[in-house]
Amino acid sequence: MKGIILAGGLGTRLHPLTKVTNKHLLPVYDKPMIYYPIETLCKAGIKDIMIVTGGNSAGSFLQLLGNGRAFGLQDIFYTYQEGEGGIADALRLCEHFSEGQRIVVILGDNIIQDDIVPYVRKFEEQPSGARLLLKEVPDPQRFGVPELDGERIVNIEEKPTQPKSSYAVTGIYMYDARVFEFAKGLKPSARGELEITDVNNAYIQSGDLYYDILRGWWTDAGQFESLQLATNLVAAERHASTPRR
Ligand code: DAU
Repeated sequence: MKGIILAGGLGTRLHPLTKVTNKHLLPVYDKPMIYYPIETLCKAGIKDIMIVTGGNSAGSFLQLLGNGRAFGLQDIFYTYQEGEGGIADALRLCEHFSEGQRIVVILGDNIIQDDIVPYVRKFEEQPSGARLLLKEVPDPQRFGVPELDGERIVNIEEKPTQPKSSYAVTGIYMYDARVFEFAKGLKPSARGELEITDVNNAYIQSGDLYYDILRGWWTDAGQFESLQLATNLVAAERHASTPRR
């Protein structure tokens, strides 16, 4: 199993913070944002990692992360996304890297409390397809939102004005090799991006999409409010785990 972190895009929702640097290099409490998805993959035992970057300061990723030894990795692979063609556009750059293996994909601005070990194990056991992680949120209209029928996801809508559930599809996705076939068939959405939600809907249509509800807190860090929330959640976690004198 290989890991992919998508850290491209221009981070325009965080202007002016992202005018001269890349969103994923901004601090979340005591570490740069990109550390969190790397640690999430490492904790799940995934050692083969590709980072897709883009926009400003791409060279700073190399300066910061080097060959990944600080995370216990042999190497980190990097590639560069031109422009802001969407999450599925960034993912398409990783077909060669994946070598037909299953992949775990994490958006570079997604931060979680717990690890993903139990979900990755379940994904390894499923015969084929994709596996998503859902989380109940107060503001589903900001995210991809699943429509549930009993235990099944029947459709996912990207940023619906009238969400059909109170769940968000988190930015942690597990795919088999068909993901690249689906990603190649995409057309840009109304906002001009190749949407990961369209990839996930293609898996639903082929009857091969599974999911779990993520335990522990989860947040993105791509807007001022969520960046601050992420910082507060991580800080609270650190203080809770630091023994008091
Ligand atoms: O955080 C979860 C949500 O992420 C999902 O619920 C949505 O379905 C999904 O579309 C996505 O929504 P956002 O609007 O929050 O995505 P955003 O454009 O902020 O991009 C999230 C990350 O994806 C970003 O930190 C880096 C990566 N990305 C994004 C774009 C647009 C790329 O690598 N390349 C891109 O072109």
